[in-house]
Amino acid sequence: MASPIPTLAHLVSEASSLYKQMFVDDTPQIAACAPGRVNLIGEHTDYNHGYVLPMALPLVTVVVGSPSIGGDTVIVTASEHADEPRRVDLSLPNEGSKLSPWAPHWANYVRGVIHHYRARPLPGFRAVVVSSVPLGGGLSSSASLEVAFYTFLQQLRPDDGDKIAKAVACQQAEHTHARVPCGIMDQFVSVLGTEGHALLIDCRSLEAIPVPLADPELVILITNSNVKHSLASSEYAVRRRQCEEAASILGKKSLRDATMKDLEGSRDKLDDVTYRRARHVIAEIHRTVKAAEALKKGAYQDFGQLMVESHNSLRDLYDVSCQELDDLVSAAMEVDGVFGSRMTGGGFGGCTVTLLKAHVIDRAIQHIQERYHGTPTFFVTTPSAGARALQLS
Ligand code: GLA
Repeated sequence: MASPIPTLAHLVSEASSLYKQMFVDDTPQIAACAPGRVNLIGEHTDYNHGYVLPMALPLVTVVVGSPSIGGDTVIVTASEHADEPRRVDLSLPNEGSKLSPWAPHWANYVRGVIHHYRARPLPGFRAVVVSSVPLGGGLSSSASLEVAFYTFLQQLRPDDGDKIAKAVACQQAEHTHARVPCGIMDQFVSVLGTEGHALLIDCRSLEAIPVPLADPELVILITNSNVKHSLASSEYAVRRRQCEEAASILGKKSLRDATMKDLEGSRDKLDDVTYRRARHVIAEIHRTVKAAEALKKGAYQDFGQLMVESHNSLRDLYDVSCQELDDLVSAAMEVDGVFGSRMTGGGFGGCTVTLLKAHVIDRAIQHIQERYHGTPTFFVTTPSAGARALQLS
C-alpha cells in the first residue's frame, strides 16, 4: 500500500498545536510552506549548467510563527533529527555580523537562510517547523526547509519578491551553512514548481519551461529504499570536482558546452574515471531535453526508455547508484504497464521514481514489495505547487 500523504491543513494544525504548547499564551500569526521534489530525469547535470526535469511534490515543509514581543528568536522542529535538540535559540545577526554554522545540524539550514535573506533588518520571531518530506530520502527535505523558511521570513520582513534570487539565496544557505555544494535544481523547483507540471530548467540561464504532466491514466510512483549509504555527501563533492576537471581539460567553461565529439577527441587526455563522469553528464543533458519533448507529446514509452538509460548511466558511468536502487528499478521494470524507472536525486540510497499506467499501480507496488529485500515505502504523487504563504484561520 502507498503511504498516505498528510494534507496541508493537517500539517498546519500540527504545527500550530506544537507552537501553542511551546509558547504558552501565544498563537502563530503567519505560515508558509514549500514542497520537496522528485527529479524525473537530468541527474547530476544541474551543477554542470545543464537541464533537469523535476516536479514539486505534495510532500511539504510547513513553518508557522509570529514576531516575538521580547525580540528573542526561537525555532522548534517537530521532526526527529537523530539525537539533536529540537529547539534552538538564535541571536539574529546585526548589520555586517554573521550567523555561523553550529549544532544542531538541522538548524544550519535555517541559519543559512537567515544569513542569506535578502532584506534587513529582521525582527525576532518564534517559529515551528513540521514536514511530511522524508528526511534524507533524496526528496529534498533540506531544500523544502530552506525555501519554506525563506517564505516565512518574507512575511515578517518582505524582500523584493524575486523568485530566482530567492532560490539562489536558499542554495547559498546550503553551501555555506550545511556545507553541501549542491546545484540549483532542488531550491528552484521548490520555489517555482507548478501544479500539474514538471519543470524543464535550464540551469545555466535559470529559465524554466513548465511541461504538462496531469494525464489521469498516468501515475508517478516514488519508492523509498529506506537506505542511505554514508558515501552520499562526500562523493557528491567528489563528482562535482571531477566534472569541473573534465570541463577544464576539454577547454570548456562547463560540461554543458561540451559535445560527445569533444569528449571522444580528447579521450587520451582524460583518465578513465573522469572520462566516464563526463560521458554521463553530456549524454544526460541531451536525454533530458529529449525526455521533455517526449512528455509534451505524450510519448510515455520513449520517456520511460530514457529514464532507464539515465539509471544505467548513473549506475555504470557515474557510480552513484547502489544495489538497493538497482533492485527497485529492476523489480519495477518487470511489471507490465510500467514505462520507466530510475534512481532519483544524488544517489547512494534514497528513492526511485517510476512512471506507469494508473491501473497497474497496485500490482506494481505489490510486485516491488515482494522482490525487494528491504522495507520500501511508496508515495503515489502528482506535480504540485511551489512555495507559498498560507492563511491561518
Ligand atoms: C542533489 C543536489 C542537486 C542535484 C542532485 C543530483 O539532490 O541537491 O542539486 O545535483 O543531487 O541531480
